[in-house]
Amino acid sequence: MSSIFELAPASPAIPINFVTKSTWPAIRDQLPAAARQFAIANGFAAKPGGCLVLPAADGQIAQVLFGIEDEDAKHRDPFRPGALPGLLPAGVYRFADAPHDARLAALAFALGSYRFNRYRKADSAEVRLVPPDGVDAAELTRLVEAATLARDLVNTPSNDMGPAELADAAKALAARYGASFSCIIGDELTEQNFPLIHAVGQASTRAPRLIAFSWGDPSHPKVTLVGKGVCFDSGGLDLKPSSGMLLMKKDMGGAANVLALAQLVMDAKLKLRLRVLIPAVENAVAGNAFRPLDVFPSRKGITVEIGNTDAEGRLVLADALALADEEKPDLLIDMGTLTGAARVALGPDLPPFYTQDDKLAADVARHAAEENDPLWRMPLWAPYDSWLDSKVATITNAPSGGFAGSITCALFLQRFVEHARSWLHLDIYAWTPSAKPGRPEGGECQGARALYKLLSERYG
Ligand code: BES
Ligand code: MN
Ligand code: ZN
Repeated sequence: MSSIFELAPASPAIPINFVTKSTWPAIRDQLPAAARQFAIANGFAAKPGGCLVLPAADGQIAQVLFGIEDEDAKHRDPFRPGALPGLLPAGVYRFADAPHDARLAALAFALGSYRFNRYRKADSAEVRLVPPDGVDAAELTRLVEAATLARDLVNTPSNDMGPAELADAAKALAARYGASFSCIIGDELTEQNFPLIHAVGQASTRAPRLIAFSWGDPSHPKVTLVGKGVCFDSGGLDLKPSSGMLLMKKDMGGAANVLALAQLVMDAKLKLRLRVLIPAVENAVAGNAFRPLDVFPSRKGITVEIGNTDAEGRLVLADALALADEEKPDLLIDMGTLTGAARVALGPDLPPFYTQDDKLAADVARHAAEENDPLWRMPLWAPYDSWLDSKVATITNAPSGGFAGSITCALFLQRFVEHARSWLHLDIYAWTPSAKPGRPEGGECQGARALYKLLSERYG
């Protein structure tokens, strides 16, 4: 894969000058007369996000002016420079002066140049960046490649990203880093006691499966990642309305983000024993679909009543979490696009996370802020746990009323985690509904970067 970063440019890179409303007058007065006049004539005022390409006397590009927030602004978007690749003509650029955070600015620049080009050529210009001094370009490239993997997997439509194709992607990743891969498919899930994964996936012509790989020294601390791999979520027989179904190719976003995080961990050779588990299914509608008020056993042993077949993500995660929990991992992390309620509470760009481990929560929040990979803690609110009660089974997958939907989903999953030293759950959206700097519209990598930094700090 070719990197956006240009380590040894053949000709001098075009300088990008970052300006704020308060630094602009002085910078303007230093410009050559013609350039100064050009900026004034264009009405350039150094507004955050404003961009102006300045000509040299010979008509070539002399430099670029780009507006960012003032030092003392109420909110500064460290990803602001991520808008540049969409604004600049083709060429090789460098930062001529320091944005607020050069590392995040360069990362945003690279993340902002992503285009999904599987089915048609991207019509954007070839823009490259000389990494700023003191920034670890190899580490940035690693982060960008992982985000690209997650975005490509999410953006690929369901007809080309079913359970088998998702397994192929995981297998390719495992092979690249010498991890040992296995997959339990179809009726074998019943034989090996994964009743919930089988129940959700049984109606699809594309067989459900539990994807697994392990990597690293078995004597190292055990970190296990579990990702929701619902390759399309029609809602099952409690069918989604068309507006709600439209984006459901992204319902394997948890799996995509887990693969991105796994790639980061393996590429950096962190000192941990990694295990990845992805229950991959299609929540389809057919004569043999699971139904509302069906009751199933689970791997953990407790029985589950189906309040709504559209609460399928927590079902497939439950069996995978139960398996993960059996070996008492040091850290168990799951991610999934689990509830609309999470988006109602915090919006698409700020996924909630849940854990009982206060130290872990503080570390996650810190890395999320430092990486500009936003995450927000929500509570495993014990008084709501009884809302999971069912009259005919141990628990229901969809408490009536729908209050605190993301919390009750987390409480449901918590029932399947007993032995893990620490458990962290992320209810992500995995999608950017409208483009923001560094975040093009479409599939998004959420949480993987912050969690990679956390794992690097603990096991680097
Ligand atoms: N995949 C959806 C959740 C979702 C919907 C995430 C839209 C992001 C955007 C999940 O399987 C689901 O349908 N959840 C239900 C649960 C409910 C039936 C208890 C929901 O959130 O409505
Ligand atoms: Mn659903
Ligand atoms: Zn779903």
